[in-house]
Amino acid sequence: MRRKIVAGNWKMNKTLPEAKLLLTEIDTYIQSKPPKCEVIVGIPFVYIESAKANHKDLNVFSEDISEHRSGAYTGEVSAEMLKSIHADGAIIGHSERRQYHKETDEQIGAKVKIALDNGLTPIFCNGEVLEERKSGRHKEVVKRQTEVALFGLSPEDISKVIIAYEPVWAIGTGETATPEQAQEIHAYIRGLIATQYGNEIADSISILYGGSVKPSNAKEIFSKPDVDGGLIGGAALNINDFSALIDIYSEI
Ligand code: PGA
Repeated sequence: MRRKIVAGNWKMNKTLPEAKLLLTEIDTYIQSKPPKCEVIVGIPFVYIESAKANHKDLNVFSEDISEHRSGAYTGEVSAEMLKSIHADGAIIGHSERRQYHKETDEQIGAKVKIALDNGLTPIFCNGEVLEERKSGRHKEVVKRQTEVALFGLSPEDISKVIIAYEPVWAIGTGETATPEQAQEIHAYIRGLIATQYGNEIADSISILYGGSVKPSNAKEIFSKPDVDGGLIGGAALNINDFSALIDIYSEI
């Protein structure tokens, strides 16, 4: 059985008091009504320590990680540091990191590996930009991103990775891929993994969809057979929408 996951990605939002409030609301909600899916919150580095100290059972992820182990990398945060503050995992290769920080597939692969080596679960993001979709190159792009970043991993390691397919044209734009478009690419990604690692591993890996998922469109997307949940940006920033998404997925 694949893990069903609703994961939030807060990006660069919220002050400490706001972050504490939302984490408490999420934790309280989950305790009062245990969901039938896993819940992850991806939050800014600076809030992780307090999040884990106050909410031991919440799955708390960073939004990035350094590709380097340690040393003279001003401003970077290492896997070992994240582990030492009890982070559970890291979102890696988000399109905003690829776009604004020029992260390459090779760097993203190094980040995935270093996360795994330190016992952190990576959420590896892939997805095409609008021109690539329009010119029909979306599969080719997702294939390259996935192969370069993940296919050097051992079967044991890749089994621990969560994948998030996020078409860049659907992130924060209000545009969503249709459930059929999501299903098509998710099945395609699973097929790539099956070819490389076999069906058993491919069938066990959770592939999340991300890009303007909200309570009004989540049911159709989450119902698709190869969609194992969502990586949620805007709708993860308030308890009403985020808890509604958890409920919607729990009922599918
Ligand atoms: P969005 O962001 O839900 O606001 O589109 C998703 C993401 O970037 O992970």
